[in-house]
Amino acid sequence: MSSMTSLLLVLLLLSLSLHITESQIGVCYGLLGNNLPSPPDVIRLYNSRNIRRMRIYDPNQSILQALSGSNIELMLGVPNSDLQYVASSRDNARDWVRRNVVNFPGVKFRYIAVGNEVKPTDGALAPLVHPALTNVHEAVAFYGLKDQIKVSTSVDTTMIGVDFPPSQGAFRGDVRAYIDPIIGFLVAIDSPLLVNVYPYFSYAGNPTDISLAYATFTSPGTVVQDGANGYQNLFDAMVDVMYSALERAGGASLEIVISETGWPSTGAFGATFDNARTYYTNMVSHASRGTPKRTGRAIETYLFAMFDENNKEPQIEKNFGVFYPNQQAKYNLNFNSIQKGFESV
Ligand SMILES: *[C@@H]1O[C@H](CO)[C@@H](O)[C@H](O)[C@H]1NC(C)=O
Repeated sequence: MSSMTSLLLVLLLLSLSLHITESQIGVCYGLLGNNLPSPPDVIRLYNSRNIRRMRIYDPNQSILQALSGSNIELMLGVPNSDLQYVASSRDNARDWVRRNVVNFPGVKFRYIAVGNEVKPTDGALAPLVHPALTNVHEAVAFYGLKDQIKVSTSVDTTMIGVDFPPSQGAFRGDVRAYIDPIIGFLVAIDSPLLVNVYPYFSYAGNPTDISLAYATFTSPGTVVQDGANGYQNLFDAMVDVMYSALERAGGASLEIVISETGWPSTGAFGATFDNARTYYTNMVSHASRGTPKRTGRAIETYLFAMFDENNKEPQIEKNFGVFYPNQQAKYNLNFNSIQKGFESV
């Protein structure tokens, strides 16, 4: 190679920078099946498929033990049945965190999800969420873990009152008394809001106005133009509705983490193997891209769920797995979708 050619090559390389976006995909590990693999086998399956993040719904001690030393990052749930306990005193919350977090130094805890899909109208549970969040966060800080572990709660999209267009997204008036203090607390502790997002249920509930292509990321072009933002898929629209709602409720600085999303492979309208495969495959590659309101920022996303769970009810709930209980993959998902690219600087 002439010295001129080498010089040109060096200049070319200097003008490029390597961009690597790591996969932001995790998978929810539910236990409501009578034929599921043992926790150590499940951890091996996550590792062999390069699934780097897991959500579990309660502090199951055999799973926490099996996770020790695995390097898998964990979203751990405080189940709704434990909210009363952790909400009632700081000592209780410290006890919960000591038993289920501090006692497992080999587990890489990333989030504690305090409560899942608590309905603001649930007179027994709803008043517990804010004090439970506060106490668990205090306990995490007490044990010196607040820089590693974010404390939040997981919500669904039924709290939304205005869902079209995405820029007009707003919470229902009757949930503001519930959600506003929670948003205020998450802003103060710089934690994301965890949101379960299911384009499937929106599509199945209104297939005349919502096309299958829009719901499964296969629309060839923009379906909804909203000011400067064009929406080609329903997932982005649903997430941006939530961002808009947060902005209107004092939560403009909050990030959203998708704590569940999925599509059933059988058992109800629109639930086919092909639709589910299309949804999960496109979701995995889409997660590295971001929504129109948050372009270029990967969306941390937990697929629901790892396995088909035959003890769930109703029927439709049994078929959200991305693996069969015998550990065979249902779809050929590439969880380790590290996106590499050169970009001029
Ligand atoms: C924890 O998970 C194991 C394995 O799935 C299960 O057998 C056990 O019943 C669970 N324990 C509790 C307390 O739920």
